[in-house]
Amino acid sequence: MKERLEKIKAEALQKISESDVLEKLNEVRVNYLGKKGELTAVLKSMKDVAPEDRPKVGQMVNETREAIESVLDAAVKKLEQAAMELNMKKEVIDVTLPAKKLKMGHRHPNAIVLEEVERIFVGLGYEVVEGPEIEKDYYNFEALNIPADHPAKDEQDTFYVNGDILLRTQTSPVQVRVMEQGKLPIKILAPGRVFRSDEVDATHSPSFHQIEGLVIDKNITFADLKGTLDQIAKELFGADTKCKFRPHHFPFTEPSAEMDVSCFKCGGAGCRFCKGSGWIEILGCGMVHPKVLKMSGIDPEEYTGFAFGIGLERITLLKYEIDDMRLLYENDDRFLKQF
Ligand code: DAH
Repeated sequence: MKERLEKIKAEALQKISESDVLEKLNEVRVNYLGKKGELTAVLKSMKDVAPEDRPKVGQMVNETREAIESVLDAAVKKLEQAAMELNMKKEVIDVTLPAKKLKMGHRHPNAIVLEEVERIFVGLGYEVVEGPEIEKDYYNFEALNIPADHPAKDEQDTFYVNGDILLRTQTSPVQVRVMEQGKLPIKILAPGRVFRSDEVDATHSPSFHQIEGLVIDKNITFADLKGTLDQIAKELFGADTKCKFRPHHFPFTEPSAEMDVSCFKCGGAGCRFCKGSGWIEILGCGMVHPKVLKMSGIDPEEYTGFAFGIGLERITLLKYEIDDMRLLYENDDRFLKQF
């Protein structure tokens, strides 16, 4: 029995020393120490051993098992260590290589201009509010004194979700939504995206942005409108800027006007930029129509107000001397990075 065990041990140790991968060591473990392994077979044959010799043989088997196990464990550790070292060598990091550069985006010129306009108005005590881009016909047209058969509806054709719901053509509906809430006085700025069935060209897009303004209080006059917008123009385009109000028509204001600023390129002398006129149109405005006030639950005998609508893209193009509106929507960062 002793020789048999010695032989098993010698064989096992030999196999261990020949193993160069973990799988082979595992095989040795199974073949010699496993349930169907050689040592278990020896234990099973104990019934043939004389009862008085059994404890002795049992101890020998255990010693053999322990001897094999300890050599095997050491061999496994050694191979694992070697594998880890190899991995570490493979994964060397060259800290002298240049770092990967994160490509940063850039603020859109529209966003830069909008923020500047908002900053100026907030400084004058205005609150910035928003309204929905998908709007009811009532807010977009009806409540702004543009009834179903009004020609302005034709000029501002848009995408209709159904007969009552459409993509808003202007930010003016936000005026109505705020007035309806019934909290007076009102002093708001409402920027946002609008939609029209316009063909794309250098100055048109089916989707663009407006900045709406509304002030309602007791004793508001056209002088307040002029003073406010003159102040804004000077802050946006420079202290020397002059403003001119031309009579115009909007269904929701009476009287209505368009405001021109003196060309900040030539100072009013006339150049290619202002098409020789010395003036550049930048917004529409007027005194809120009494009908519009009344429809939104405000008494026009007690309250008056003014409103204005600025085309954001128009200001951006002017300010940065961009000659094609399409550049604003292409998101080419070579273009965007310049502002
Ligand atoms: N909503 C007008 C448009 O899209 C612009 C406008 C004009 C807004 C006069 C106003 C205003 O608030 O008073 O053409």
